[in-house]
Amino acid sequence: MPHWTLDDIPWAHFERQKLDPELLRLVKAASLVEQNGADYARYLCGVFADDTAFQEAARRWGEEEIQHGRALGRYAHLADPGFDHAAACARFSAGFRVELDATKSVRGSRAGELVARCIVETGTSSYYIALSEATDEPVLKAICQRIAADELRHYKLFLTHLCRYLASEGLGTWGRLKIALGRIRESEDDELAFAYHAANDPSGDYDRKRAIRAYARRAYAVYRRHHVQRGIAMVLKAAGLKPNGRVNRVATELAWWGMQKRVARLARGAA
Ligand SMILES: [Fe+2]
Ligand SMILES: [Fe+2]
Repeated sequence: MPHWTLDDIPWAHFERQKLDPELLRLVKAASLVEQNGADYARYLCGVFADDTAFQEAARRWGEEEIQHGRALGRYAHLADPGFDHAAACARFSAGFRVELDATKSVRGSRAGELVARCIVETGTSSYYIALSEATDEPVLKAICQRIAADELRHYKLFLTHLCRYLASEGLGTWGRLKIALGRIRESEDDELAFAYHAANDPSGDYDRKRAIRAYARRAYAVYRRHHVQRGIAMVLKAAGLKPNGRVNRVATELAWWGMQKRVARLARGAA
């Protein structure tokens, strides 16, 4: 059972005047991506075919991700009654599909798969914390706080299973770091950009570069330095490195500087 339900959200407290329309665009995109939880759960069950304990956890995890999509979709409809979540999900699914029937991880090993899952949960947990702090709208804040707590739990879940598989598969720090950095780079692939397009531009053609820029400008703008520092600590931990040492301080400075520069450049270009 998920740790909360849609009935726990204080929908009646919605305050339209406090909602930033730019954040609503991000919420609509996130409501589509979260719905992929079912497909990713099926993929994970294929990769971990003989590990019933992990399969059970992956199915529960997938249900929680789908609930995130439902909560965000209902919120987006409350804020913009013209937003049809089901139709947007159908547009997204028609243009982006997760590989469903794999029997081997695309990361080369089960440990590698779990490192990549930790990175995804690092990203989502940081993102929803940042969104919850960026908005003054009470219902969106309440939803993002609940989702952020789930995402942190998901990170810990995959990290626990990673420790188990590291003992048998022996993936070293360098291998883990390479997978982690590779998965971070993939955040600029089609999944998020196409979701942003499918959620916000239903009639236009998909222009990949334009969608990536439009999404990145708004998404990066919600982060503050402490979110970046915390996210990097989680990445380093998944890679087997000290989370809060000198490497974190240097990486945080670089990432924070790069993100601010990118947001300013995209804003100048009216992305
Ligand atoms: Fe989620
Ligand atoms: Fe998650």
